[in-house]
Amino acid sequence: MKLGILVSGRGSNMAAIVDAVKSGEIPASEVAVVISDKRDAAGLEKAGERGVDTVVIERRGRTRAEHDADIGDELEKRGVELICLAGYMRLLSPEFVRRFAGKIVNIHPSLLPAFPGLDAQKQAFDAGVKVTGCTVHYVDELLDHGPTILKCEVPRLEDDTVETLSARILDQEHATYIEALRQLANEW
Ligand code: GRF
Repeated sequence: MKLGILVSGRGSNMAAIVDAVKSGEIPASEVAVVISDKRDAAGLEKAGERGVDTVVIERRGRTRAEHDADIGDELEKRGVELICLAGYMRLLSPEFVRRFAGKIVNIHPSLLPAFPGLDAQKQAFDAGVKVTGCTVHYVDELLDHGPTILKCEVPRLEDDTVETLSARILDQEHATYIEALRQLANEW
């Protein structure tokens, strides 16, 4: 299963995936490329340290569809079979989603369909929920939307702050994304 990972920032989910591919926890797989839309994304360094090819494709005033077309060409050139969004902070164009229909997955730090969009952990915290978590799902044309692959619940503890809750969710994100990809790789 040839993976391409899209990032915009820190890249901790990407690093967890790369490490799990290298260790064989995600079997018979390869990370062909990590693509960032931000030149200064910390994830680029993490990918480089792990020996994964990185490419920066910035939007630079082009339309969303033009930008996405370049990203799609790069992914196709490298034979990517499954696109993993890992903190990729741009909504993908309908053209891109259709081009790679059923071949894009994302992780979101809430139990979707609750709390899509930015700051999902804070949204859940502010709403006072007792349980939140993370969701790995196929990507469709809507934001943080599409068929669920795997979810993991994370309880909100009495003394939690947004930061401590987010950190516990992030730990589960890494484990959940790896497990979801392990399942997909086994069925590949
Ligand atoms: C994660 O919380 C992910 O669920 C969300 O953006 C964050 C990215 O973190 N989509 P990282 O770049 O993987 O560290």
